Amino acid sequence: MITEENFIDFKCPHCHEPVAFPHESIGSLQACPSCPESFLVPEVGSEVGNQIPLPITTSRLVLRRLAPGDWKDLLELMTDEEFFQYQDGVPLDEDSVLHWLESDAHVKLTTPDHPFYLAIQLQDGGKLIGYLSLTFTDPQRLLVTFNIGLNRSFQRKGLALEAAEAVLGFCFEGLKLHRVTSLCDSRNTAACRLLEQVGMRREGEFLKNKWLHGEWTNSIWYALLAEEYHEAPTKASDPS
Ligand SMILES: CC(C)(COP(=O)(O)OP(=O)(O)OC[C@H]1O[C@@H](n2cnc3c(N)ncnc32)[C@H](O)[C@@H]1OP(=O)(O)O)[C@@H](O)C(=O)NCCC(=O)NCCS
Repeated sequence: MITEENFIDFKCPHCHEPVAFPHESIGSLQACPSCPESFLVPEVGSEVGNQIPLPITTSRLVLRRLAPGDWKDLLELMTDEEFFQYQDGVPLDEDSVLHWLESDAHVKLTTPDHPFYLAIQLQDGGKLIGYLSLTFTDPQRLLVTFNIGLNRSFQRKGLALEAAEAVLGFCFEGLKLHRVTSLCDSRNTAACRLLEQVGMRREGEFLKNKWLHGEWTNSIWYALLAEEYHEAPTKASDPS
């Protein structure tokens, strides 16, 4: 319903507490003021806000929030030195992984300038084989940047492509975002190829703009706008 102040009243789909948002926020991602969850502001006439469409299921994967039980598989991924060859960070020990999981439980998709992690889990056997992170870069939450990493034993099987296609579907169809970006080291052939394969446009290369593991390195920006995503002849897979 629309109140006289042009606010839409509805209930949080998680805690069922009443909330009110301006009419122009229909479809937008918002944090519930009464509980730690987020939701999408529904159309006029809906009693309840819309849930964020997570987890995401693809033909071989499930993309879902990290959970405390993921520590072993995450540790396997994060102790591989080669994993950090083209990105920030150093291998993590067990305590660091446990601390990460503990603090991640308090992060919402709406937490500003903070990565929101999704586990990339195999449907067959349930192993966590990687992660995706989404970080909003604007206060309106319409611009997001993503990063992806896969356990080396599961690379080169098209699984990163499957996960990245699904996350673009989540961003553009589920959250109705305006623009998705990703940044990678210019020497990272695998990441560049992956981002090109999902239809992202190479926007530019920044020369020696990043100090990484003791040297200045070049970064390539990739981006995709909502209109480009929707106009693409082969759209990314359905996130549902
Ligand atoms: C980037 C990464 C996620 C790619 O994972 P992946 O599972 O190998 O990717 P996929 O199997 O889905 O392949 C996607 C495309 O990249 C290509 N590719 C993957 N690894 C490659 C490599 N080492 N060299 C050249 N091309 C490669 C694949 O051939 C495929 O392209 P194609 O369809 O034209 O054949 C993985 O290499 C990784 O986790 N790297 C470490 C973390 C990292 O650097 N992340 C940067 C994120 S921006």
